[in-house]
Amino acid sequence: MPVSIKPLALTVFLLVPSAPLDAHEMSLTDITEAWLMGPHADHDSSSFTHWNADGAVPEACAACHSETGMLDWLGADGTEAGVVNHPGTINTVIGCASCHVSEAEALDAVPFPSGVEVSGLGGNATCTMCHSGRAATGDVTAATADMDLDTVSADLSFINVHYGVAAATMHGSEVSGGFEYEGQTYAGRFAHVPSANTCLDCHEPHTTEVATDGCAACHQGVDDITAIRTQPADFDGDGVTSGGIRDEIDGLHARLDAAIRAYASEVAGQPIGYNADSYPYFFIDGNDDGTIDAGEAIFPNQYDSWTPRLLMAAYNYQVVAKDGGAWAHNPRYALQLLHDSVLSLSERVELDTGGIGRP
Ligand code: HEC
Ligand code: HEC
Ligand code: HEC
Ligand code: HEC
Ligand code: HEC
Repeated sequence: MPVSIKPLALTVFLLVPSAPLDAHEMSLTDITEAWLMGPHADHDSSSFTHWNADGAVPEACAACHSETGMLDWLGADGTEAGVVNHPGTINTVIGCASCHVSEAEALDAVPFPSGVEVSGLGGNATCTMCHSGRAATGDVTAATADMDLDTVSADLSFINVHYGVAAATMHGSEVSGGFEYEGQTYAGRFAHVPSANTCLDCHEPHTTEVATDGCAACHQGVDDITAIRTQPADFDGDGVTSGGIRDEIDGLHARLDAAIRAYASEVAGQPIGYNADSYPYFFIDGNDDGTIDAGEAIFPNQYDSWTPRLLMAAYNYQVVAKDGGAWAHNPRYALQLLHDSVLSLSERVELDTGGIGRP
């Protein structure tokens, strides 16, 4: 059961004022147990074992994938802050020091892959740093500059935003973690409500679980948070608006998948498919059956007939795929990215876009 740490520690302290040390130890045990249950302590995860055969976590990856790398990035190891100067140690999870060393507690501003720095983050700064993704609009624009939108180029390969990119979606167009089409405007940071606006408002920092009890006070009549919805429109065009906003995002995401496949076959001249579990995610769909099975999801079979237009849409498909909480982090931004990607593809292939909407 998720326990609210502060009130517990405080209560025990007040009831047993003569034994503050015990109380302190007790709450630390609870916190440590909570952390052990959570993803940041998962020693077996590929997030912490991916580099074991290499013997070290490269500088480019270490800040988010090893405690020594995070301490290096923070400057807590005596080296310059904001850069990783040494490879990280393998098999070190995200331990207490990653977030509680004084440099981490003082961290308030974080640079995003777009180069934009967001400040005023307080205790959310460490979460934001690691969950900001690794690419942005500018990376896609730079890779496709001066190219014809619909001509296959051997110079192009898939650009991966990375994983768990919650901070990038939450801050929306402030940090441009999605591919934002020219001429469109995009939602900025999700302006929710003051009590549910930051990572720590919704996530307990040690288990990282979402504290859902408070949601129902405002979102009445839902038995599950995934049923929450305040925007009435039918964004995915399926005629159904009774489900949560997550259903609209899922629906539009599926329509983007179909649009990407239609465009790849008809314009790029090579069938494409997506496999969520295998890098680099988009593969040649040799048998053109609309799915990528285990035999097809192998690195040498990666999709290699990219046009700029296809790359832009695929980039956005992945942004939404790799933030499973996009519907809560910034539903408008997610819907806008998906909508604009479908419309862009529909300029070159016949797609039924009649019912879809843009928030
Ligand atoms: C800005 C922080 C950051 C950097 C830098 C970073 N990652 Fe990650 N990476 C993450 C986060 C966060 C996750 C976990 C997301 C989740 O599970 O929701 C992750 C997950 C992964 C995973 C597990 C993917 C999966 O599907 O389970 C691999 C592998 C990985 N990263 C490789 C790399 C490599 C290789 C580099 C360096 C080239 C790198 N990362 C750099 C933040 C980062
Ligand atoms: C991913 C970052 C992260 C990790 C890892 C982490 N913590 Fe925390 N911890 C936080 C944040 C953020 C808060 C503040 C929560 C708040 O203000 O709501 C916190 C609060 C606390 C508190 C309460 C302090 C206070 O001011 O109320 C203690 C004690 C604590 N953590 C101990 C630990 C221990 C021990 C570990 C390792 C077992 C650990 N933390 C791992 C982020 C982290
Ligand atoms: C030092 C980098 C780092 C920091 C700081 C960090 N995270 Fe993470 N986070 C990761 C990585 C890496 C993973 C993937 C761990 C795994 O695969 O087990 C992850 C996993 C998660 C997950 C589970 C994702 C999933 O796919 O189920 C959540 C939720 C999460 N983090 C939230 C937070 C919150 C909230 C904070 C701040 C209190 C935070 N993180 C701070 C790197 C970080
Ligand atoms: C104090 C009241 C309040 C609380 C507490 C609250 N919300 Fe909200 N929520 C709102 C309001 C108001 C909106 C509409 C905001 C907007 O459209 O910009 C909203 C919008 C949303 C949306 C977007 C719905 C849509 O159709 O776009 C989601 C998802 C959401 N909230 C989830 C949550 C979750 C999850 C929690 C609990 C962790 C929560 N909310 C707690 C008031 C609240
Ligand atoms: C309005 C509440 C809210 C806020 C604010 C919020 N989250 Fe979330 N987050 C959620 C919900 C709800 C989920 C989905 C949980 C689920 O599916 O179990 C989620 C999921 C996640 C995941 C897992 C995504 C996946 O692919 O499974 C990560 C990582 C994460 N959040 C990190 C963060 C970080 C970092 C921040 C701050 C930048 C943040 N969240 C802000 C409510 C919130």
